Amino acid sequence: MNRDLRNHLLFEVSTEVCNKVGGIYSVLKTKAPITVKEYGSQRYHCLGLLNKDKYEVEIENIELSYDILHNTCSKENDDDYAIKETILKMRDRGINIVYCKWLIEGTPKCILFDLDSARDQYLNDWKADLWESNGIPSPDSDTETNDAIILGYLVTWFLGEVVYLDNQKHAVITHCHEWLAGVCLPIIRKRKLDVVTIFTTHATLLGRYLCAGKDEFGNDIDFYNNLDKFDCDKEAGIRGIYHRYCIERASAHSADVFTTVSQITALEAEHLLARKPDGILPNGINVTKFQAVHEFQNLHQKSKKKIQEFIKGHFVGHLKTVDLDNTLYFFIAGRYEFKNKGVDVFIESLARLNHRLQSINSPVTVVAFLIMPAKNNSFNVQSLKNHAIVNSLEEGVSDISDVIKEKLLQYTLNHNSIPESLNELIGDNERIFLKKKIIPLKNKEFELPCVVTHNIIDSDKDPILSNLRRTHLFNHDHDRVKIIFHPEFLNSQNPLLPMEYEEFVRGCHLGVFPSYYEPWGYTPAECTVMGIPSVTTNLSGFGAYMEDLIDADQAEMYGIYIVDRRYKSGDESIEQLANMMFDFCQKSRRQRINQRNRNERLSELLDWKRMGLEYVKARSLALKRAYYPEGYENEGFSSFENDGKEYRVGKPFSVPGSPRANSNTILMTPGDLGTIQDANNLENDDYFHLSMDDNDNSSE
Ligand code: UDP
Ligand code: G6P
Ligand code: GLC
Repeated sequence: MNRDLRNHLLFEVSTEVCNKVGGIYSVLKTKAPITVKEYGSQRYHCLGLLNKDKYEVEIENIELSYDILHNTCSKENDDDYAIKETILKMRDRGINIVYCKWLIEGTPKCILFDLDSARDQYLNDWKADLWESNGIPSPDSDTETNDAIILGYLVTWFLGEVVYLDNQKHAVITHCHEWLAGVCLPIIRKRKLDVVTIFTTHATLLGRYLCAGKDEFGNDIDFYNNLDKFDCDKEAGIRGIYHRYCIERASAHSADVFTTVSQITALEAEHLLARKPDGILPNGINVTKFQAVHEFQNLHQKSKKKIQEFIKGHFVGHLKTVDLDNTLYFFIAGRYEFKNKGVDVFIESLARLNHRLQSINSPVTVVAFLIMPAKNNSFNVQSLKNHAIVNSLEEGVSDISDVIKEKLLQYTLNHNSIPESLNELIGDNERIFLKKKIIPLKNKEFELPCVVTHNIIDSDKDPILSNLRRTHLFNHDHDRVKIIFHPEFLNSQNPLLPMEYEEFVRGCHLGVFPSYYEPWGYTPAECTVMGIPSVTTNLSGFGAYMEDLIDADQAEMYGIYIVDRRYKSGDESIEQLANMMFDFCQKSRRQRINQRNRNERLSELLDWKRMGLEYVKARSLALKRAYYPEGYENEGFSSFENDGKEYRVGKPFSVPGSPRANSNTILMTPGDLGTIQDANNLENDDYFHLSMDDNDNSSE
């Protein structure tokens, strides 16, 4: 065997390459700098689908033709020769492929397949093949699954061609994220392609559906206490996702190495996908350190000012009851999964917080933002009008300020003193002019500031609005908690709140993410990197990870609030969150500043420089399983380097879940990868700190 294992080619496959949807986009984007650093620009490529509406702003095209290939590359010296040749060959067969640089830090090269260019000619054949080769059905009407199938077969075609043209020069690792990018895995195995595979699931389909839904009697499902009891095939069938679940399960079982993003999701995958993951690949973040230590504090102040501008417009006519200097901004943001993201718990806790702040006559106002895309018909008239009123008043005041300036100067020169009243400075003309501008403000006193910025479609059925109605959170003057539901992600072109999401987060005081189903949860992690305290739960991968690293009694001091949603009842969790938010409202400005400083220091724990280690270990294990199923020792890749340090991977105990062509061993035991901590200790402990019936994990 002459393939180069150490200098292997790496492909990462995901539908979120150059296509922002949710957290997987954040994984690929933030990890790119360290992966490109490790592999260089020729051995690492991201494979994805071409989203024609969005891709252009994300990429820069790389020109490629046979002439360019032959004149600028050579088979001997360039690791990506076979890759480029494959792109050209597939284009010759009518597949539209965009070959490009992703314009993010690290600028990884990407290969984006236009699914439409294969749809008419191949989809039906590929669906039939998936059924015949793997017994995976696919109904006609599910376009998402059809797209996953086209992507899977195009990726397999691509990889098959690459390994053929590369002629065993390099080993090839393909790392697929999530079921949508997993279809290639069972086909690669079936066709015995010389490709080593890793599958990372960022959730399970069934887990997401079960947590969001109800049981047959209309009750919430107690997911985590029943993980071992679900009849998965039946549950998937009832929910109409049997075929998707088959793809997910086949992906997990046919990959050489199977991983997920947190311990809790590993436990879930073990039961719902029937393969215990080989390890956890926790999500990192690209931590940028500012030159000045307190720069992030200044940025908070700057962004907060922008949010205050918005508040002036939104609450126009009612600002007597909102002291902007004593106003705290809380927010929840993400995909609109009402129960899974814990919006139900957030709203209920806000109602309790409102009551408590009222009962102590608190001077504090809390403005709670809910930023979750929901179907809408654009901004509502009231919101737009309010902002127009404030803009017009601002312009008016600025217009007459020149007159006032002139009169003030004249007055002080004439009287050698300052005027007693404003009347000396404002004439009738200015008075009338200002009065006209103020009339709309007066009218606004009789109208409640809206709880939502847009016209929501089917607003009577919308879960956020229904729950705000139920809990009477209507933005009355006497309410200490005000609500703003913004049913669209933020961007700097937004006419009401012109801010990018990151800028908005910086200006807030507390991110609140009380999720019930959250395999990792980037949003609280992103808060930490910006030094903004956040609430998370012990059911989210991020929360459990932080719980493991920071002493329970210190976490809040560091701005990491962890709500117990695993061992407490719903009502108890709501109460706990209300208490946390209430305590936060009691903090002085100095205490908030200190807490932000401590919080920001935790970002190192989340840096890809640490977290990326698990990816390196996963790839190393995959190579060993593929090429040295029996021996493993001293094959030139049992140690690896990351960020200048040499690490050693303990000898794996197991071999793949499904046999490779050259192996007849089918045993598989988990725990090969362990965690970062295990790697540092060089211990090979089981990675689970959570068990289903043991509710005391404090000793671990
Ligand atoms: N996000 C965003 N704009 C918003 C709200 C969220 O770009 O207004 C991003 C956020 O930065 C995060 C991702 O969406 O990276 C959500 O990832 P997470 O892992 O929290 O949840 P997922 O959606 O993947 O379940
Ligand atoms: C940052 C700024 C300070 C400002 C403070 C406000 O720390 O550097 O100048 O006073 O933010 O904090 P607050 O929690 O009240 O928004
Ligand atoms: C999924 C999960 C989310 C996680 C993200 C990235 O979308 O829902 O919790 O953070 O993937 O791993």
